Amino acid sequence: MSDAHGYVETHFDTFKTQLIDLLRIPSISTSSEHAQHVVRAAEWLAADLKRIGLDTVEIIPTEGHPIIFAEWMGAGDERPTVLIYGHYDVQPAVLSDGWKHEPFDPIEEDGFIVARGASDDKGQIFAHIKAVEALLASGNKPPVNIKFLIEGEEEVGSTHLGAFISSHTDKLKADVCVISDGGMPAPDQPSIEYALRGLVTMELEVTGPSVDLHSGSYGGSIHNPAQAIAEIIAQLHTPDGRVAVPGFYDDVLPLSDEERAELKKTGPIEADWLKATGVPQAWGEPGYAIHERTGARPTLEINGIAGGYFEPGFKTVLPAKAWAKISCRLVAHQDPNKIGELVKAYIQQITPPTVRSELRVNRGAPAAFVDIRTKEMQAAIKAYEQGWGKKPVFMREGGSIPVVVDFQEKLNLPVILMGLGLINDGAHSPNEHFMVEMFRKGIHTSIYFCETLSKQ
Ligand code: BES
Ligand code: MN
Ligand code: MN
Repeated sequence: MSDAHGYVETHFDTFKTQLIDLLRIPSISTSSEHAQHVVRAAEWLAADLKRIGLDTVEIIPTEGHPIIFAEWMGAGDERPTVLIYGHYDVQPAVLSDGWKHEPFDPIEEDGFIVARGASDDKGQIFAHIKAVEALLASGNKPPVNIKFLIEGEEEVGSTHLGAFISSHTDKLKADVCVISDGGMPAPDQPSIEYALRGLVTMELEVTGPSVDLHSGSYGGSIHNPAQAIAEIIAQLHTPDGRVAVPGFYDDVLPLSDEERAELKKTGPIEADWLKATGVPQAWGEPGYAIHERTGARPTLEINGIAGGYFEPGFKTVLPAKAWAKISCRLVAHQDPNKIGELVKAYIQQITPPTVRSELRVNRGAPAAFVDIRTKEMQAAIKAYEQGWGKKPVFMREGGSIPVVVDFQEKLNLPVILMGLGLINDGAHSPNEHFMVEMFRKGIHTSIYFCETLSKQ
């Protein structure tokens, strides 16, 4: 065991305490009420990066939440540079969502740290920071140069990071980009993600009468927008579970028989999927297994629906408006703009003449693919073997990390999706947690990766 690995073991309790401190900050990026907490999390991380000995540590303001950039270039020009990306912003969470404890009052229980952001993504990015701390603190200097790029807007679509990357290509120059923001199927089965889905979000507004009306006087003579939006939404899928938008599947790159066979080896068992989610039966596009539906097929989801009176008691109105938030997960080679336009055209076509509808399409991100045959990937495979004592499997992920494509296209970097969490860590759900052992192994694996990469 080199010095760095020994340092991790002797300092692990401190690392845990520090992570718990970071998790106390409710850096929720989606609501402006929490803007000062988001800044506080950035300051907390920047202070830690400075303390452990990075040369340059900057908090770069944007029109949204700040970006953290830090670097240590002491390994010299002849050594590779690793750019580590992560996010310090988190999804919203309140006790009443079903948390057993306050989501921002972290606890350690049965080998897990439980708090919002524990796995997504504070715990995972912090594992790399602690790996770099151990490398800097050990007798030998780190074998590679290190850059950190940590943002506060991932959970809102990385609004300002794309432009920052475009205008700072020299600053961000590196040889490989490492991202730990995903999960493995089981604690004893390391995995590397090689595909992420893209995403495009949309907001639908259906308008009927100009104001809410008495449902006795007008009901039956006016098309109720809450009913009309339900009718529209019901037509977005076929009864057997395909997306009904014409042209939706046109550009989809089909799975090869070979890849299907490979993925089948690690796909979930249906019974486990039902147990983990609590539903009576699975649902989805016919002809595809669960992991194919989530990893390799595009979908359309209703993320929220609203309209009419929903306070206690009854208000017998015919509401003036109804709303829905809709998003599509995309796969290669679908274009987010084109999909948005297709959904828009179809909704226009199926909107009954008795109401008006308007669909606003937000800027989306395409699916991301990672080349698994690079030498950097070989270093990652070896690092997992050393960290977990087992060869990693390659997996597709259903979630999205919008900037992956920017790292590939704007910085020309090979990307390694080195997930250190577990699929069932409860990201975006109540009682999100990060397994303490995953944190420990993740730190070692990050060190192994740097060590192997430097020897290539
Ligand atoms: N870490 C997730 C992405 C992810 C999820 C990767 C599951 C691997 C497995 C990330 O923080 C996330 O939640 N992304 C959002 C992006 C969106 C808000 C633009 C997502 O996928 O919904
Ligand atoms: Mn994340
Ligand atoms: Mn997330």
